[in-house]
Amino acid sequence: MEMDQLVALCKRRGFLFQSSEIYGGLQGFWDYGPMGVELKRNVREAWWRDMVNGHNALDVPPGAPSTYEMVGLDCSIIMHPQVWKCSGHYDLFHDFMQTCRQCKKLVRADHVAEMLKESEWVASLGTVLTRGPDDSLLDIDAEALLKWAKSKGRKVAPGLALVRKPEVTLSCLVERIASSPSVPLGSGELLSYIATEQLAVTGLQAPCPHCGGDLTEPREFNLMFESNTGAVRDDNSKVFLRPETAQGIFVNFKNVLDSTRVSIPFGVAQIGKSFRNEITPRNFTFRSREFEQMEIEFFCRPDQSRAWYQYWRDRRYKWYLDLGLAGDRLRLRDHDADELSHYSVGTADIEYAFPFLAPGEFGELEGVAHRGDFDLRSHMEGKLVRQGGELIVEKDAEGKPSHRGSGKDMNYFDDQTKERFIPHVIEPSAGADRATLAFLCQAYTEDEVPDEGGKAAKRVSLKLHPRLAPIKAAIFPLVKKDGMPEVAKEIYGELKQHANVFYDEKGAVGRRYRRQDEVGTPYCITVDGQTLTDGTVTIRDRDTLKQWRTKKDDLVAEIRERLR
Ligand code: GAP
Repeated sequence: MEMDQLVALCKRRGFLFQSSEIYGGLQGFWDYGPMGVELKRNVREAWWRDMVNGHNALDVPPGAPSTYEMVGLDCSIIMHPQVWKCSGHYDLFHDFMQTCRQCKKLVRADHVAEMLKESEWVASLGTVLTRGPDDSLLDIDAEALLKWAKSKGRKVAPGLALVRKPEVTLSCLVERIASSPSVPLGSGELLSYIATEQLAVTGLQAPCPHCGGDLTEPREFNLMFESNTGAVRDDNSKVFLRPETAQGIFVNFKNVLDSTRVSIPFGVAQIGKSFRNEITPRNFTFRSREFEQMEIEFFCRPDQSRAWYQYWRDRRYKWYLDLGLAGDRLRLRDHDADELSHYSVGTADIEYAFPFLAPGEFGELEGVAHRGDFDLRSHMEGKLVRQGGELIVEKDAEGKPSHRGSGKDMNYFDDQTKERFIPHVIEPSAGADRATLAFLCQAYTEDEVPDEGGKAAKRVSLKLHPRLAPIKAAIFPLVKKDGMPEVAKEIYGELKQHANVFYDEKGAVGRRYRRQDEVGTPYCITVDGQTLTDGTVTIRDRDTLKQWRTKKDDLVAEIRERLR
């Protein structure tokens, strides 16, 4: 499946729209349409049901070290600024960005190489290069390059040094080839040569993926959106939109303990919006500036934390499989030590082979992190830093904590063992939008099925798990006469009390099936002539296309059973 096909279906059938589309859209922001809102709600509800309120606290789940409890929270998006100072986000939550001196666009330094691979001007340039079967460059035709620079290049890469100063740029490239003819010139090096105007002064440069222009040195850029509270806009009123939901859980740790009867081990779950001012939002909803997270902070004894980490890693991976992601497109990957976040003792990512990625590449769906006692301790003592394997409170030049903690006691007292300790935390942190996108990518199917005349015809369907499907069943009268609409409407009214169902009497029944297939409706129920005589209806399965008859009085029970 090409990503463009899914994007087109999402717009056509009301799953996703660009935010503020009538004004040209706003990059990194998306609106869920009538179908999308149901799908994403079902993703969230499946997560909440499976992780939180459907969790049986009296049974030991397979693979878990013991029983445990789960509760939920819904915290504010804007929190006290000190939260972000102690969590490390204020000082450390940044990406490196570069600005193009020509088109002024910003790019994330670590995205440049990947974006160049997808860039329109690089593709256009490729048409004048002679490549070998392994994509290596076989030949540079200086004349063809010059011609490209003066014609097509001006349109697609106006910032490129080769376009702005063709002769001087080309002469450096020719000199390089002449001076080391035996050292092959790779694609990356070629791009750098044609992007570098003053080789002697700057050295080779990577070009801007948008226009080919030259990029500034990478600079740090904090990803938190800022705002102000109250009428006065100054540093004292500055606040941040939360970049993760997790911190709301940590700062409420004592409130949860004091207001419920939970005891360790237990988890606190939260679903909510998070905001990150991503430098290069892209790949549909995969990297957005406003998105939704589904996070659990699981509090346990330090000596059991490894076992719980293992449990959550495996449990969360299985959740995606159970809801339909294919095993060959889903993987669990442990982070290398140099990939770990500043707080993390161990992290594994659950990743999916999204179709917008190159073959063999995977994108993060969820991170499962062993966070140790980092967060509770930093909200108690102040911002922590790692020194020689130890976490210590960061000090400023005068030896005072650089960001003071709340001073509140975050210890847990174990009634049974009479021990006091700061619990360790395992954090399964998922993105609701990324999960929704992965389920859509997995579900998109094109096949051929017989049309009403029996001829094979192309069909697009979304093979979504019935729990996730926006519409659970569609009810059709075969024709708009002979009392069929009346019976169908009665069935619709009954089923509507149990599930999101849809009534459609417009057009040929084959077309109505196709419309439902495209939005992923697992069952279509048709009222026909036989219904009027024996009270049975047909049910058609979206995936197998099998049809069978059921008594209309048994429909509620049957559809409910099939949706479980
Ligand atoms: N509390 C830990 C935390 O926030 P993260 O890996 O930065 O960890 C967790 O984010 C999940 O949130 C990611 O695995 C992803 O699913 C989702 N996410 C993060 N940034 C996102 C973005 N810009 N757009 C969409 N989803 C995002």
